[in-house]
Amino acid sequence: MPTLGGLLKKRRTKDSQTLSKELPGSTAGHTSTSPIAADNTHHHHLHFHNNHHHPSDNPANSANPAASIAKQQSNQSSASKAADGQTASMQSPALQPSTSAHSNASPQQHGNAASIQNIIHPSEHNTPQVSRTERTTKGKYTLDDFAIQRTLGTGSFGRVHLVQSKHNHRFYAIKVLKKAQVVKMKQIEHTNDERRMLNRVRHPFLITLWGTWQDSRNLYMVMDFVEGGELFSLLRKSQRFPNPVAKFYAAEVTLAIEYLHSLDIIYRDLKPENLLLDRHGHLKITDFGFAKEVPDITWTLCGTPDYLAPEVVASKGYNKSVDWWSLGILIFEMLCGFTPFWDQGSPVKIYQNILQGRVKFPPYLHSDAVDLLSRLITADLTKRLGNLHAGPNDIKNHPWFAEVTWERLLKKEIDAPYVPPIRGGQGDASQYESYQEETEPYGHAGDDAHGHLFADF
Ligand SMILES: Nc1ncnc2c1ncn2[C@@H]1O[C@H](COP(=O)(O)OP(=O)(O)O)[C@@H](O)[C@H]1O
Ligand SMILES: [Mg+2]
Repeated sequence: MPTLGGLLKKRRTKDSQTLSKELPGSTAGHTSTSPIAADNTHHHHLHFHNNHHHPSDNPANSANPAASIAKQQSNQSSASKAADGQTASMQSPALQPSTSAHSNASPQQHGNAASIQNIIHPSEHNTPQVSRTERTTKGKYTLDDFAIQRTLGTGSFGRVHLVQSKHNHRFYAIKVLKKAQVVKMKQIEHTNDERRMLNRVRHPFLITLWGTWQDSRNLYMVMDFVEGGELFSLLRKSQRFPNPVAKFYAAEVTLAIEYLHSLDIIYRDLKPENLLLDRHGHLKITDFGFAKEVPDITWTLCGTPDYLAPEVVASKGYNKSVDWWSLGILIFEMLCGFTPFWDQGSPVKIYQNILQGRVKFPPYLHSDAVDLLSRLITADLTKRLGNLHAGPNDIKNHPWFAEVTWERLLKKEIDAPYVPPIRGGQGDASQYESYQEETEPYGHAGDDAHGHLFADF
């Protein structure tokens, strides 16, 4: 029999079966800093990449860029200090065999206690002040603009490469999708939506899309390279996160989802595999493969089995609140090291468990966490937090989040609990797993049977 530990190590893949037609959205735009531009504006801030992508849109920068750089600098150094040399006190492994090879990967137990504790004063409602201006991203690049380095991740429909721009020499991530595969898996609309939704969003905790193009076989999406690796890897190495650590990541995710919902975008694939850590340890949500504009209700069965809400499993119409259910599963997984409906990796059993809806809370969970989780992981949509009159405020004002100062969190003023051990700006992909490289070269000319299906790229 396979062990629980063994199965949990595997990254989980999507499940999608298109049952409905989906709404088209819109794209338009203006130009912004890009990998193709000569690097005349970027030399001076190598170390603070994230702060400078959207100088006018990132709330952290709006007042005084110099001050915010200084702040990041001091955050960085104090957080690094906290992370160094404090790798010893692991929680006792609850379920998994030891992963001693990675013992240096779990300093997140300590430093954060202090940094989370200084987040007093829970705030009133706070809508992220992020511009809705869109970038021009169509057809801006070709493969010749980049040197492909290695694979960072593979998913159900795509492969993501670390690349270096030949123009400004910075590092980016390019997601490559094979058009034939997308068509075969009936993901045409989802893929067009992925591009369209990603193009609309700008938020400190969401990945930035710089441009897209296609050749006869593949679609390409250029994004920022997020250097710190997947939250999935950190979680599996750590087995589970202490309460304040899980709270920090959950809080950043909550702000990102709140923002997406304010644009009527459902995300639909929340899970640690899609949450990346930047060089300072803040989250970036990647993978908009199932993101979609849904003002009211939709029916498509898609997502990742462990994280699906019961109304999705039951093929009912559903709304944005499926993301709040998934947030509950995510918090549960961060605190426990496994998901509540997990069942030896079998999707059918997982779906049965989801429909039964019985969650066993391990005794080590804080009572505030249990309370929040039981209000998120609830099938009754008239009771699920996030879906009630106050919307996401019911989640943000829940006692489990009491210490979080939401405005400061949005500005990345709260130190992350764990700073990835990488050198920023160097194309350091050491936090990512190794993958067998693609053997088929990209950049084909010639017959293109599917190009017309992806006119936005
Ligand atoms: N911008 C990025 N920077 C670094 N790694 C990334 C980035 N985007 C994706 N990845 C890696 O590639 C993996 C697969 O990408 P994803 O968009 O999730 O594809 P899929 O839709 O196939 O799941 C991610 O889980 C992550 O490990
Ligand atoms: Mg993914």
